Amino acid sequence: MKILLIYFTGTYNTRYLTSLLQERFLSRGDKVDILEVKEGSKITDLDYDLIGLGYPIYAFNAPNYFNKFIKGVEFKKDQKVFIYKQSGEVFKLNDASSRKIKKYLKKKKAILINEKHYVLPYNIHFRFEDKFIEEILYYDERLLDIFFYELEKQIISIIEPNFLATLTSLLLSIQKLGGYLNGPLYKVDKNKCINCGKCISDCPVNNISRRKGKIVFSNHCLMCMRCSFYCPSDAIKIGILNGWKVNGKYELSKYKKEKNDYLKKHDTFFYSCYEPYFKKIDEIYNNYF
Ligand SMILES: Cc1cc2nc3c(=O)[nH]c(=O)nc-3n(C[C@H](O)[C@H](O)[C@H](O)COP(=O)(O)O)c2cc1C
Ligand code: SF4
Ligand code: SF4
Repeated sequence: MKILLIYFTGTYNTRYLTSLLQERFLSRGDKVDILEVKEGSKITDLDYDLIGLGYPIYAFNAPNYFNKFIKGVEFKKDQKVFIYKQSGEVFKLNDASSRKIKKYLKKKKAILINEKHYVLPYNIHFRFEDKFIEEILYYDERLLDIFFYELEKQIISIIEPNFLATLTSLLLSIQKLGGYLNGPLYKVDKNKCINCGKCISDCPVNNISRRKGKIVFSNHCLMCMRCSFYCPSDAIKIGILNGWKVNGKYELSKYKKEKNDYLKKHDTFFYSCYEPYFKKIDEIYNNYF
């Protein structure tokens, strides 16, 4: 098959997931092209057997920037599409995050054949512990096994949101204003900044520049966290969200992928969403294999 993977990423977790998918498709003998959505991205060819759409969940929605891009894609009638989304937690309230993408696909008469919600570490709020990352990566691999099994057997599998998830997604679509409101509040601590220019060259939408020797932020920030996450001297303050800033990359390809019963030692409300999520993956996996 000829596959196209179109994705948006802030801090490269979706890029990592895309590379896992790519490896698996290649090992089946498929041909894979990849398009990362950023300033200037364009689709020149849509002659593919299957198109994958990947994104990180932002406040129970797909990033507005990604939605807008997908809205402009001229999918062929009957084009087969799958969605691979990922986020830090897996509350069922995330189930309606592909709401707009599904609407665009329907309008263009493309066919959604699969949707999966993977879990990868938070790039905001707090840093995931290494042991937990090992466990979530183990479940991501299982979910990939499930996805490829369903693809092979032509099993349609799409996440159906309940009313509450749809309502949450609708209410929190207000997050799209976040970048306009909070973006201009981004600031660089000049005592920490080493003037490396990394934030300027890495920003996916050229929102950062140097003016009179100072790093300045314009007004079209996507709140993707890339600049503050990867700043080598943790010099960027992210406005009202500064208390939730995470700085420093996760080397996802270097982690072990193993079950270690992390949840048994962490039974706060936050971790309560993973148990049913992992359990469901185990159930489907055991049913298929
Ligand atoms: C603005 C913003 C909003 C987010 N909202 C959510 C959320 O509602 N639920 C969640 O689980 N993770 C949320 N996250 C965390 C990301 O989805 C998660 O860390 C993801 O792996 C980042 O992917 P990326 O590296 O491809 O950008 C949010 C991150 C950002 C930057
Ligand atoms: S990445 Fe950090 S240290 Fe480098 S120029 Fe930007 S703010 Fe300064
Ligand atoms: S300014 Fe930072 S957070 Fe905003 S879009 Fe650019 S890299 Fe992302």
